[in-house]
Amino acid sequence: MRVIIVENYDSMSRLAAKFVKEELVRKPDLVLGLATGSTPLGLYKELIRMHKEEGLDFSKVTTFNLDEYVGLPKNHPESYHTFMWENLFKHININPSNIYIPDGTVEDIEAHCVWYEEKIAEKGGIDLQILGIGRDGHIGFNEPGSSLASRTRIKTLARETREDNARFFGGDISKVPKYAITMGIGTIIESKKLILLASGANKRDAIKKTVEGPITAMVPASMIQIHPMAIVIVDQEAASLLEREYETWEG
Ligand code: GLP
Repeated sequence: MRVIIVENYDSMSRLAAKFVKEELVRKPDLVLGLATGSTPLGLYKELIRMHKEEGLDFSKVTTFNLDEYVGLPKNHPESYHTFMWENLFKHININPSNIYIPDGTVEDIEAHCVWYEEKIAEKGGIDLQILGIGRDGHIGFNEPGSSLASRTRIKTLARETREDNARFFGGDISKVPKYAITMGIGTIIESKKLILLASGANKRDAIKKTVEGPITAMVPASMIQIHPMAIVIVDQEAASLLEREYETWEG
C-alpha cells in the first residue's frame, strides 16, 4: 500500500486528480469507480477544471458508483444519482449511457445487484476505484462486519453512518434511509487500482486502523492492505495517528 501524506484537503484533491488524469490519458476508455460524500468533492472540482481548462476528455469513460440509498428516487436531492450529476457528470463530457449507479428504487434488488456485477465484468472490470472512508472504517456502504468477500448487495446502515449523513437530510436521522445497495468489498478489491482519500481529524482513527491495524471485517477499509495497487492519500489531520514513516507530497 502506498500512503501519501499531504498538507490539507486541497492538496489531497489535487494529487488525486493528478492520478486520475494520468490514468485517463493512458487509457481514454477508462472504467472509473466513483464515490460520494464530501471527501471526493474537491477531486471532482479539479477534474471539472481539468476538463474545462485542459481539455481532459471523458467521452469514452465508463463510471460505476459504489452505492446508492434504497428507497430514494433518482431525482431526490440527496440521492447519489443527484449528487453525481450535480457535482461531476453535468460539468464534463461523459456519455450518459456510460454511467452506472445502483438504482435504489428497483423492485427486485437481488436481481439488480447481479446485473450490476455483470455490467462491471462486461466492461472489463474497474480500472481505478476512488474511495472515501466512513468514521467506522466503512468503504462504499460496507459497514463493520461486512464479509471481506462480499459482492454488490443490500446492506443495513450503521447508526453512526446514519448520524453522520443526517446533516444532508436537514439533521433529521429519521429521514436517512436505513438500507443501501453497495458494491461489496470483494467487488471493490478486484479493481485494478484503488485510491482511498481521507481528510480531517474525524477520520484519523479509521485511517490508523486501515493502514497500520490488522485486516479485519470490523474495519472494512483494512482489506485494501491485500490490494497490489492501493494508494492512500491523507491530509495531515487524518494521518495524525499514523506511527510509521510515509511518503509526502508538497504539490
Ligand atoms: C458515505 C458513503 C461513503 C463515504 C462516506 C464518508 O457513507 N457511502 O462512500 O466514503 O460516506 O463520507 P464523507 O466523505 O462525507 O466523510
